Amino acid sequence: MTDTAALQKCFSQAKLNGLTLRNRIIKAGTFEGKSPRGLPSADLVELHRRIGEGGTAMTNIAYCAAENNGRLHADMMYMHEYVREPLTQMIATIKTTGAAVCGQLSHAGAMSKNSEMDSWVVKGASIGPNMLGMAYGKFLCIGMTRPQIRERVQVMARAAAFMKSVGFDAIEIHFGHGYGLSQFMSPITNRRTDEYGGSVANRMRFPLEVLAAVRKAVGDDFPLLGKISMSDGVKGGTTYAESLEMARLLDEGGLDCLIASDGTSSMNPMLLFHGDSIQPGLVEHEKNPLMKVGLKMIGPKLFRHYPYRETYLIENALRMRDNFKRGAMCYIGGVSSNESIARVMTSGFDFIQLGRPLLYDPDFVKNAMADAAYVNGCTHCNQCAGLIEAPGGIRCTLR
Ligand SMILES: Cc1cc2nc3c(=O)[nH]c(=O)nc-3n(C[C@H](O)[C@H](O)[C@H](O)COP(=O)(O)O)c2cc1C
Ligand code: SF4
Repeated sequence: MTDTAALQKCFSQAKLNGLTLRNRIIKAGTFEGKSPRGLPSADLVELHRRIGEGGTAMTNIAYCAAENNGRLHADMMYMHEYVREPLTQMIATIKTTGAAVCGQLSHAGAMSKNSEMDSWVVKGASIGPNMLGMAYGKFLCIGMTRPQIRERVQVMARAAAFMKSVGFDAIEIHFGHGYGLSQFMSPITNRRTDEYGGSVANRMRFPLEVLAAVRKAVGDDFPLLGKISMSDGVKGGTTYAESLEMARLLDEGGLDCLIASDGTSSMNPMLLFHGDSIQPGLVEHEKNPLMKVGLKMIGPKLFRHYPYRETYLIENALRMRDNFKRGAMCYIGGVSSNESIARVMTSGFDFIQLGRPLLYDPDFVKNAMADAAYVNGCTHCNQCAGLIEAPGGIRCTLR
């Protein structure tokens, strides 16, 4: 029987650094592919408005890139004056539903195929290939100099201040999934020999400098969430043991809420999803013939199989709790029923992020509040994720 006290806890008001949320369900960042030429489309607004209408406490606009060169491609938003008005309007529209709005502050770092980039060379932690840009003639990533790192810290802080000014209620800093900040955290992509490489403390230096600068930019009373990958999921990458230390450093650095995801888009993407492979969808919608072949060839090695099970990250995420003591913990990964919500709540998490279940049923919260036996119908086929680069972007193919 589902624990009604746990459900009550989930569906009652909660505070996140001064922000009152109507319940503990937060939308996970799912880049929707609905921002052609870097502007939010009416479809993007409607997707998040519907999720707000369905009772979710806070929705999350994924992949708000800190700067033009921080985008994976040119159809992503980056935080500059050109998007101020549409973004302000979008956030205001979503807020009419009573939902708060979070923005996921991201940087692509060494991984980009952005046609509007100001150079054919991307900048990351260390020299290496630009895996995403190869087929687009952008082969190389070079390691940032110290002044370039200092500049990126300021770029992230400026973007955060911009996000606060357009009405976001909270910011989720993307420290995970193989993007810019996690490229410094991972020993595979960070082979620096200066104070930004080597030990966990050194690899965390740049992400922690970003956290401190973002905090300064938005103020002490503004909620800052952070999403990490608990492991890279490949040999020689970040381990679960290391990410415990990373969680402790982020806690000490003043992060308000930790979201412990897993895997990386570039090295082991299925670890964060579980369920059916996203490869067929990505291959189908890839426009670049070279990339299409590449995706087909590396497919089985890159897209490993992790069978879906409910709350598939809970065991490792729970271990973070002892190291992330001051801030709140938000669970992510495979919560598709009230039974799972109760398990997560009774395990001591403060919030829950939902990705696919909200794409399947934007009324998840309303429906789960009305029926203690609620089970969401998402089959974890992951076809939505395969549509990320399809015309019009993602949707649940079962709806
Ligand atoms: C279509 C799609 C797009 C995603 N895009 C992002 C993203 O932009 N940023 C991110 O941190 N995670 C992204 N994710 C991962 C989700 O945030 C989440 O970690 C994952 O879906 C597991 O949660 P779930 O079981 O509730 O779906 C995406 C997932 C999906 C399905
Ligand atoms: S397409 Fe629909 S059913 Fe399949 S994973 Fe996405 S949300 Fe779930």
